Amino acid sequence: MRHFLDLADHDTATLRRMLDLGVRCKRGEIADKPLAGKTVALIFEKPSTRTRVSFEVGIRQLGGDVVVLSGKDSQLGRGESPADTARVLSRYVDAIMLRTDKASKLQELVAHATVPVINGLTDLSHPCQLMADVMTFEEHRGPIAGQVVAWTGDGNNVARSFIQAAARLNFTLRVATPPELSPPAQLVDWARAEGARIEVTADVVSAVRGARCVVTDTWVSMSDEKEGGPTSRHNQLAPYQLNAALLRHAAPDAIVMHCLPAHRGEEITDEVIDGPQSVVFDEAENRLHAQKGVLLWALGIG
Ligand code: CP
Ligand code: NVA
Repeated sequence: MRHFLDLADHDTATLRRMLDLGVRCKRGEIADKPLAGKTVALIFEKPSTRTRVSFEVGIRQLGGDVVVLSGKDSQLGRGESPADTARVLSRYVDAIMLRTDKASKLQELVAHATVPVINGLTDLSHPCQLMADVMTFEEHRGPIAGQVVAWTGDGNNVARSFIQAAARLNFTLRVATPPELSPPAQLVDWARAEGARIEVTADVVSAVRGARCVVTDTWVSMSDEKEGGPTSRHNQLAPYQLNAALLRHAAPDAIVMHCLPAHRGEEITDEVIDGPQSVVFDEAENRLHAQKGVLLWALGIG
């Protein structure tokens, strides 16, 4: 079963195959309507703009059909288990995408699904985002292998997927984060054991120095919203803001990425996100193309 749950689950060649399919979709090189006759269920237990629209539009553009469910108006929201949901949906649809607050729910769904499952974000990872981010880097700056990418801010789900991407796609990743918000040491150790060059530091300037790409994300992820208010995170993360002064330490031709939604004036300034080095809207667009590659791979097409 071709699930797409985390980048760590796939070897470099398989990820490259998905990326290549996505690029070919973007270039219009894929045969017409490859998903004709296929239906994909998109389940959102958390809000979404990009993931929802890019999957829905992408599937329709490929000739497939979609059913979109939100946690609160499906029985999942009333306590039906991910396992039973998987058993039922597998009889109706050809693939399932889930965005959920707990990675354990995704794992339960996967354990009982008999169709491919795609991770549309959990508290622990956001692999679809990384496929778009790698595609975007490579469009602007060529192969990502051997390049230096700097992450500044919270060691969140997107940061964790960046660590997995660095291991699989062979780029150097420097993560600048307050020690309390660092990505799990176990994940960093795993990546290093896989041969990845990962640095984790509280020194944001040294992390960004000479990087070809600087990335950040919200200081308060959806899974952190119930933590008792954002104030302490804002205080902890303020020194990691991606602003013009910080960006000056990166390579002169560095690009800036952010998965969006942005909290302007918090993790990133208007000047940077709207500036000439920002590629954030190309990145958002590439969710559409990259996910087509993931879908075609998952469904064994193309
Ligand atoms: N980047 C991203 O996943 O955006 P949404 O939350 O809008 O889907
Ligand atoms: N880290 C963010 C990403 C949103 C797309 C969150 O989980 O809320």
